[in-house]
Amino acid sequence: MCGIVGYVGPCDAVPILMDGLHRLEYRGYDSAGVAVYHQGTIHVRKTAGRLERLGELLSAEPISGTPGIAHTRWATHGEPSDANAHPHTDPSGKFAVVHNGIIENYRELRRSLIDLGHSFSSQTDSEVIPHLVAVKRAETGDTLEALRLALKSTRGAYALGLITADEPDTIYAAREGSPLVIGIGEKEYFIASDVPALLNRVSRVIYLNDGEVARLTPEGLTVIDSDGRTVRHAAVPIGIAEEAADRAGFETFMLKEIHEQPRVLRSLLDGHVRNGEEIVFDTGTIDRSFLRRVERIMIVSCGTAFYAGLYGKLLLEHLTEIAVECDLGSEFRYRAPKFDRNTLIIAVSQSGETADTLASVRMARGRGAPVLSICNVPGSTLVRESQAVFYTNAGPEIGVASTKAFTAQLMAFALFTFYLGRLRGEIASTQLQELLGALQRVPDAIHYVLNSTALIRGIADKHHAGPSALYLGRRFNFPTALEGALKNKEISYQHAEGYAAGEMKHGPIALISEYMPVICICTATEDELYEKMLSNVKEVQARHGRIIVVANTGDQAAAELAEDIIYVPKVREEFSPLVNVVALQLLAYYAAQARGNDIDKPRNLAKSVTVE
Ligand code: F6R
Repeated sequence: MCGIVGYVGPCDAVPILMDGLHRLEYRGYDSAGVAVYHQGTIHVRKTAGRLERLGELLSAEPISGTPGIAHTRWATHGEPSDANAHPHTDPSGKFAVVHNGIIENYRELRRSLIDLGHSFSSQTDSEVIPHLVAVKRAETGDTLEALRLALKSTRGAYALGLITADEPDTIYAAREGSPLVIGIGEKEYFIASDVPALLNRVSRVIYLNDGEVARLTPEGLTVIDSDGRTVRHAAVPIGIAEEAADRAGFETFMLKEIHEQPRVLRSLLDGHVRNGEEIVFDTGTIDRSFLRRVERIMIVSCGTAFYAGLYGKLLLEHLTEIAVECDLGSEFRYRAPKFDRNTLIIAVSQSGETADTLASVRMARGRGAPVLSICNVPGSTLVRESQAVFYTNAGPEIGVASTKAFTAQLMAFALFTFYLGRLRGEIASTQLQELLGALQRVPDAIHYVLNSTALIRGIADKHHAGPSALYLGRRFNFPTALEGALKNKEISYQHAEGYAAGEMKHGPIALISEYMPVICICTATEDELYEKMLSNVKEVQARHGRIIVVANTGDQAAAELAEDIIYVPKVREEFSPLVNVVALQLLAYYAAQARGNDIDKPRNLAKSVTVE
């Protein structure tokens, strides 16, 4: 999604802004631009395409000055083009704005501005904002107030930065529904849509709340709410180390993040397990007595986090007596889900800024249902709107395709399930010790998979060229199959479907031919489902599908059916998705590499989807 960076202080803003934009590149974008103040004039440079193109434009037509704002745009309203790129200005060129989010009523605002004689130079919803501010500024004579009033007439979501030719040394910021963080330096301030843009600049930040508008000058900061009342914010430490946002010698962020998984999972275990027999979890403002008696849980999330939710449902129902539903955020908010204050809502999100997940959470809170979030980003909107948070603590996930955040979400579900099960007396203490013993083996098992890179790469090289791939799994590994297919399509662009293996004969079997790689997850060896899974693989074999099996080390029966086999260490079936999915992440990774794709910035995708 779009990225925002802004700077006010003694230095030339342009290199600072470009550095910040580079740090936000992982979010996905299709055009970029900067605007700076210099001697009473706003200078804008913007272009469709990558930051390199903006860099070339800045070399050909240099600008410098301070303050400044900058943006990477991910097109929603209007194609990626020079004209639609941000910053946008008002007709006089005095107000320049960068905007993330969507102004839903921009058509009517635009019509009323056209009636006032304004003309527009882009197709974007965002362009109405500098026009509105110019109008309100003429009425009020004060830019902070003008911005507040202008935004009051909008409907939708925004995070924005604004500079004006009338005020040197001043930058404005505002948010509603889209994230915005203010970085606090020595006689300088920064704004950004996402913390990684600020990592090398500041150690303390302020998170603006919805409806707030801020004026930043080197001398200080003023924040008001949507009614114009002054608001005070305490700065908080930035919380993530800069090195976490570097590639650490790996060729891509995604590969680095895949390799970080054993460490991330170990530290989650260390943080929540005491003496191998007790789960430590802070239930925030959700009463433990509520958790003791709750009979219903609804999980909401999107994309990869939705698949983590499906796993959470399976595990919670497997180990507790609670009835669990799992919904896509984009569906939950528009269906008529039946729940009330006695239902626990669990929202799962890496970023904590996903619009559909947040809308579902707000709907739940409107009905009085307590919300527990499983989230990776401290200070995110989701965290601030939840009564309890299970932090996945995976560190910044920069690769657009989610990897370590997913396995951390699975681990969080496992630990939370154990916590609930113990609290409610549904998991005995000996059973917990067994479960924990099994879960503790997962990080080492993942290490083993990471050491099979050469083999997995060879398999990817062999199968990446076909038009499509099918991923099959059962029970706990049905979500794994869905996630494996999603990883593949996201970064390799090979069409892929995840299916419950038992469902295959109800339709997708028609697709199977000698051109179709079918990835079969067969790790439930001591289980009734193992034989059933092997029968499903035989169905594929009979139709000459190209069978790639993920199986436990030494499994001969699976090997006999497979054209290629990825062996993974045996772990308890409930926790096998954490291990199996790593093999599928690597398979997708090397397929994408073989196809020559930009793995960290896959086409059309955004890291955090802050629009509906
Ligand atoms: C897939 C991926 C997306 C996200 C989804 C939800 O690799 O990254 O499917 O999982 O957009 O994002 P969060 O977890 O930030 O709510």
